[in-house]
Amino acid sequence: MSRLFRVALSGDFRKSDGSPTFADFDLAPLSSAPGVEMAFLEARSPLEAEQLEDFDALILLAHRFSAASVPRSGRLSVIARFGVGYDSVDVAACTAGDIALVITPDGVRRPVAVSIMTLMLALTSKLMVKDRLARLGAAGFAARGEHMGVGLVGKTLGSIGVGNIGAELFRLARPFGMHFAAHDPFADAAIAAELGIELVSLEELFTRSDVLAVNCPLTPATHHLVNAERLKLMKPSAYFINTARGGIVDQEALTRVLREGRIAGAGLDVLEVEPPSPDDPLLQLDNVILSPHALCWTDQCFAGNGAADVRAVLDVQQGRVPSGIVNREVINRPASPASCIGTPPIGHSRAVAYDFIARSRSIGCPGRNGVAGSRALRDAKWPQQGVGHQSSGDPRAHRRAHCTLGSADPPRPDMQPSEPSIQSRLRVRCRAFA
Ligand SMILES: NC(=O)c1ccc[n+]([C@@H]2O[C@H](COP(=O)([O-])OP(=O)(O)OC[C@H]3O[C@@H](n4cnc5c(N)ncnc54)[C@H](O)[C@@H]3O)[C@@H](O)[C@H]2O)c1
Repeated sequence: MSRLFRVALSGDFRKSDGSPTFADFDLAPLSSAPGVEMAFLEARSPLEAEQLEDFDALILLAHRFSAASVPRSGRLSVIARFGVGYDSVDVAACTAGDIALVITPDGVRRPVAVSIMTLMLALTSKLMVKDRLARLGAAGFAARGEHMGVGLVGKTLGSIGVGNIGAELFRLARPFGMHFAAHDPFADAAIAAELGIELVSLEELFTRSDVLAVNCPLTPATHHLVNAERLKLMKPSAYFINTARGGIVDQEALTRVLREGRIAGAGLDVLEVEPPSPDDPLLQLDNVILSPHALCWTDQCFAGNGAADVRAVLDVQQGRVPSGIVNREVINRPASPASCIGTPPIGHSRAVAYDFIARSRSIGCPGRNGVAGSRALRDAKWPQQGVGHQSSGDPRAHRRAHCTLGSADPPRPDMQPSEPSIQSRLRVRCRAFA
């Protein structure tokens, strides 16, 4: 009898009463897939290794996955994060454990870009101010002429970062007749050219933008990238939008320029401290629109993230390389010595690895935790895929994980499964051993 492909869902996918956290996350394709069994884990953060020993895949919401979460069985092949942020996952530990980490750029691309558009339109049309005026009745109506909005035609929309979401923002903004400018040290020049984006220095971007949005990841290099000196370069009429991560912005400096009216306003879905302290001065400013890191939360966003995760897990189960892999080196490393030490020449098979480990143990070799044993298991899970090597140290690795093309565009060649049959052979072999 063949062994089931077991998929764990982190415990935070269920509320305390057992109902689903996100009703739009459709698990039917997973629960109905032949040979697949799924189970919800107990809610623990970080996850504990013993919870994951008997699983092949993990779909992970917000719970942390640390080095101590890596199961010793070596069976776990893929973690599919629900979203694109993975600061909650120890990527190095995943890579060392030959576990692929997959994110869901397809799920968030449009919803986050829409939330930036929402903030841009609300700020420039003074939506929040006019809402308050309307509620004041006659006095508010009398004051409406003092709150002119700003037309967007001919204005410059700037973005710090032109990746998955940044590029989509420009796609959505095309009909508004704006100039597009961006700063991104790793920008894909072809995409920039196709979308009519002028790539400029960071300082020029701050100086020229009428609406400036942040669309880069939070890394040590981008922490407080938006600081007092750069904010000083902005026009007094300009708006600033951050839906990326709070830590990219020096919030104290931003609060100061907003309070002093040195820029027109800001739309912030993310803050340095979430939730903010009740006495955070930012909460008192009426030229700021805030959202609790949830402006992109829509039925379609959660359905999209869920569909992408399910697709990734089923890709692995069915012998295809999933898209959106963050740590590609897991599938790109050279063939292991395990294939040359007496195991039959049947290619990369998990079953062979288990067999090898069992035999190593029986003759007193290091076995599962020995170098050869773990290499054998690693090769069984992620056989060499024949695609170009990509180190996770390269900032482009993250960007490649996000398909920066629109969903209607064909996937890039480096995101194509290169040898789908390898893992199929692996499972055939597993059946023989199971
Ligand atoms: N608010 C939310 O709910 C929400 C949801 C999803 C994503 N996000 C955030 O949105 C941001 C963008 O996500 P994405 O999917 O587009 O990521 P992405 O990796 O596809 O794109 C990020 C881009 O930033 C660029 N970049 C890296 N360093 C840079 C720097 N120093 N200056 C300028 N650009 C730089 C990269 O080259 C890349 O093109 C991330 O911070 C992500 O965490 C927020």
